[in-house]
Amino acid sequence: MEQNVTTRRNLLKASAILAAGFSIAPNLSTLLKGNNLTDAGFAKTFGKKNPVGSGPKIKAKLNSNENPFGPSKKVKQAIIEAIDDSYLYPRDANKTFIKMIADYEKVSEDSILLGAGSSELLMATALVYGQKGGTVLSGEITYMSLIRNALSFGGEWEKAPMLKDYQYDFGAIKSQISDKTTLVYITNPNNPTGMLADTGALKSFCEEVSKTKPVFVDEAYIDYAPNPKTLSMIDCVRKGQNVIVARTFSKVQAFAGLRIGYLIALPETIKTISKYTTVGGTISATSIFGAIAAYNDEVFYNFSVSKNNESKAYLCKALSDMKYDFLPSATNFVIFPIKINGKKLVEMMMEKGVAVRNFEFDGKQWCRVSIGTMESMKLFVETLKSIPGTI
Ligand SMILES: Cc1ncc(COP(=O)(O)O)c(C=O)c1O
Repeated sequence: MEQNVTTRRNLLKASAILAAGFSIAPNLSTLLKGNNLTDAGFAKTFGKKNPVGSGPKIKAKLNSNENPFGPSKKVKQAIIEAIDDSYLYPRDANKTFIKMIADYEKVSEDSILLGAGSSELLMATALVYGQKGGTVLSGEITYMSLIRNALSFGGEWEKAPMLKDYQYDFGAIKSQISDKTTLVYITNPNNPTGMLADTGALKSFCEEVSKTKPVFVDEAYIDYAPNPKTLSMIDCVRKGQNVIVARTFSKVQAFAGLRIGYLIALPETIKTISKYTTVGGTISATSIFGAIAAYNDEVFYNFSVSKNNESKAYLCKALSDMKYDFLPSATNFVIFPIKINGKKLVEMMMEKGVAVRNFEFDGKQWCRVSIGTMESMKLFVETLKSIPGTI
């Protein structure tokens, strides 16, 4: 009976959407899997040409480390169900989600701060520690969002050199801590290298450094690493250390477009950072209900990680065959040094419908490719081989 009511409700919703002038093509999700809302996708969805779209059609979107294998069916169902109540602010649902995280991570509820994606929490942290007069210290090769925010708020960035193998040099970072330092930022696993730091070394670093400076550990990709629970620095927070851990649902849970992220830190630190946020108020009802459905969904989680590993193994083998020295990746992307100009490579790949990103560090040009479906990995390898100077 409940099933029938739900189905009828969904049908009513679908016809309301159609009546509003939209036509939902049955193969839309296939069309968009791993792609952006391309011009063709836009036209199929809305029945007209995308007025701002003009770029080449993307066949494999491998430039933003999104997860093409989700979100899960459970999440989609929860989102449909949430629409009925979405005229209400979803405050209770936020509280439920916080309680779920607190129970799972064995931290108090006031140690958690939600955001619409972790980017807004990184920005709020930059507002607290990285404004004029603040100095963010990090390894030289890292994710730049919080640092860019701090720089634009008048703060400073101090970078410590990496080790030869592109791992963090925790000794070098420690030696650069000064009176000016207001925050130490570590991304683990790191982006753009994809590399996982040694857990023991990072734990000792956090324990020592957090006695004098807050340490921010961005764990956006931790779910792709083996045994993430044992690798996470949430343990430092449990022990009362001044460590701030950032998590996102944009990766394994495939919520990049749904926007869910959170911080776990000491309650007083959460209180301070929360002053620069809407305290979860930017999260939509559909997204928070989706997040509740996604949390603890081990089946989808394992599916997502294993699909990523399959595609990554294929990609790494192909890159090895092409004699590329890719860095060991604990994430959903792989980076490797290239022999041609990175910007040029990105342009030429894009012309052929494959979106990737280039980086420059250690005097080398690099290509970073996100892990997609097996089909998109094959297309990536085929397209790379077709670019002059890549083999
Ligand atoms: C290391 C790292 N942190 C944070 C983010 C921001 O993710 P989001 O705002 O989608 O949660 C990303 C995005 O790719 C990332 O790579």
